[in-house]
Amino acid sequence: MKGVVLAGGLGTRLHPLTKVTNKHLLPVYDRPMIYYPIQTLVDAGIREILIVTGGNNAGEFLRLLGNGKQFGLKHINYTYQEGEGGIAEALGLAEHFVDGEPVVVILGDNIIESNIRQAVVHFSNQEHGAKILLKQVADPQRFGVAELDNDRIVGIEEKPAAPKSDYAVTGIYMYDADVFSIIKTLVPSQRGELEITDVNNDYIHRSLMTYEILDGWWTDAGTFESLYRANCLAASQAGTSRS
Ligand code: G1P
Repeated sequence: MKGVVLAGGLGTRLHPLTKVTNKHLLPVYDRPMIYYPIQTLVDAGIREILIVTGGNNAGEFLRLLGNGKQFGLKHINYTYQEGEGGIAEALGLAEHFVDGEPVVVILGDNIIESNIRQAVVHFSNQEHGAKILLKQVADPQRFGVAELDNDRIVGIEEKPAAPKSDYAVTGIYMYDADVFSIIKTLVPSQRGELEITDVNNDYIHRSLMTYEILDGWWTDAGTFESLYRANCLAASQAGTSRS
């Protein structure tokens, strides 16, 4: 199982914080943001990790992370996304690295409390297809939102004005190697990006998507409010683990 952290984009929703640096290098309590998704993959037992960077100061990731010694890794792989082509475009850059294996993808601004190891094990027992992790939220309009029919997921809408549920699609995705041929068929959305939601809907329409509900808290950190929330949650977790 390979792991990919997507840490590109220009982070414009956080201007001026991201005018001179990459969003994923900003502090979240006592660590740079990117530490959290890397730790999530490592805690799930994944050792081969690619970081897709982009935008400002991409070289600083190498300076910060090196070969990943602080995570117990021997090596980290890096690649660079030019411009803001979207999450699916960034993932497309991982094709060579993933090399036909299944892959766990995590957005560089997604921070979670729990361990996803069990979901990853379930996915590796799944012969093919994809798995996503959902979380109930108070503000589903901000996210990709799942439409559920008992234990089946029947569709995802990206940032809907009238959400069909309060289950947000978190930025943790598991795919078989077909994901790269799906990405090649995508066309840019209205915001000019290749959308990960289109990739997920492709698996859903072929009945090859499973889902699980993520345990513990989850937050993104791409807006001032969510970055502040991420800081508070990370601080409370650090406090709990120390006491
Ligand atoms: C992206 C995805 C969205 C998902 C969210 C999770 O949104 O497009 O489906 O729910 O990440 O963090 P973005 O942060 O690009 O607005």
